[in-house]
Amino acid sequence: MGYKDIYELFKNRIHEGAFNPGERVPSIRNLAEELGVAKRTVETAYDILIGEGYLISRGPKGTIVNPDLHIDLAPRKEAPTPFEDSDLRKIIDLRDTNGLFRLGVPSLDEFPYKKWLLLCGRVARSMTVADMAHPPVMGYQPLREAIANYLNISRGVTCSLAQIYITSGYKSCLRLILQAISLSKDKVVFEDPGYFFAHKLLKRIVPNLHYVPVDSQGVIVDYLEKHHKDAKFLITTPSHQSPLTVSLSLPRRHKMLEWARKNDVWIIEDDYDGEFHFTKNVIPALKSLDTSDRVIYTGTFSKTIMPSLRTAYIVVPKELVAKFRETTEITETGLALLPQKILASFISEGHFFKHLKRMRSLYKSRRKLVFDAINRIYGDYFDLNLQDGGMHIVALLKRSTQDIKLSDIWQSHNLQVFPLSIWHAQNQKRYGLVIGYTNIKSEEEALSALRLPYKETIQLLSE
Ligand SMILES: Cc1ncc(COP(=O)(O)O)c(C=O)c1O
Repeated sequence: MGYKDIYELFKNRIHEGAFNPGERVPSIRNLAEELGVAKRTVETAYDILIGEGYLISRGPKGTIVNPDLHIDLAPRKEAPTPFEDSDLRKIIDLRDTNGLFRLGVPSLDEFPYKKWLLLCGRVARSMTVADMAHPPVMGYQPLREAIANYLNISRGVTCSLAQIYITSGYKSCLRLILQAISLSKDKVVFEDPGYFFAHKLLKRIVPNLHYVPVDSQGVIVDYLEKHHKDAKFLITTPSHQSPLTVSLSLPRRHKMLEWARKNDVWIIEDDYDGEFHFTKNVIPALKSLDTSDRVIYTGTFSKTIMPSLRTAYIVVPKELVAKFRETTEITETGLALLPQKILASFISEGHFFKHLKRMRSLYKSRRKLVFDAINRIYGDYFDLNLQDGGMHIVALLKRSTQDIKLSDIWQSHNLQVFPLSIWHAQNQKRYGLVIGYTNIKSEEEALSALRLPYKETIQLLSE
């Protein structure tokens, strides 16, 4: 590579907008080493670029793209539409914004950052040489132990460290479980309506996917007995059904476990926000009643700590531990060690329990203020039926079926609500908005946000 090639390369990259005005370019020495050319070659190319006004040398501080450079950037190619699936595209686009009423994200403004940062520093400083090798595939042992203790105490799940498997999120849990123990012909039953992303994943990876409806007591177990005796898996959210937030009633819990035992079904319990129960005592997980070991329990730290931690876990039934281990040693790599170490300290030093307790009372008050604000402004249009728990509110439309248009209107005001109908798989749809409340800090904030789409909302719902 000669100096002309380097000159052309930089000029083109600057015109394409790959380097912005003011941005630092690589040092002459680093670039020469990287390209395997003499320093003089790079120096000549940079001299020409400086002479033409593309770059500025700041001496020992390095070379930057001229901040006053005014050039017409080459038109960027129109990005292709990322998804054919329009529901998916909408949700992904929204997830990248910072709107109010965001769904499924904890109250990050109240996270104990100082404590967390102290732990990050301490754990990073205590890294050893051994910590730089491969992390264990099942997860960092002290973290698995801390999770097992937590589940035994708080969720009533009797389990040991050997059964805990750490993953990067619920979707990984699902994928891994099915990969480890399902066959392509197996019948998999999913809730309808059910968690949007799990449904998208299952439609991709499960050839024999079926549904079970949900009512005010959760999954209709009679329907399972009537239509799905031949199922191999049921994927369900018993604590707070996603998205309806209803809890599976105790009689149905027993009936569901009995159905699974009789028919050799594996129940995959998604206990994504079981910790957040406000009006009665916390209901233990379905797994806590599972004397036949038919429940594969999954939980996540996305709701209790932060989604960017990417940490979830599976409690693998004892009889599956060996099989699970063997499969994952082949297919998985384990997760980065450092965040696991930080999380293990956060739990074992008691900060996690304290944080959960604070969040429970915070969510109780935030939920109430959002509920009251919606009722006050839109009470004539929505049926708001608060359940005992959950991190969002379901506002059912009283008369309209236009929830997709309505959520488009609210989203155009940066209110990140979702239409309930797109959570359904089959025809018996409910219509309404799914509204997160965890990031609303005051009644005034809720009221002024809800007033933004008022005119268009009333107009649409009065049609
Ligand atoms: C029903 C349900 N399950 C599980 C999860 C957790 O997903 P993850 O652990 O991948 O963040 C969520 C997150 O929104 C959810 O809504």
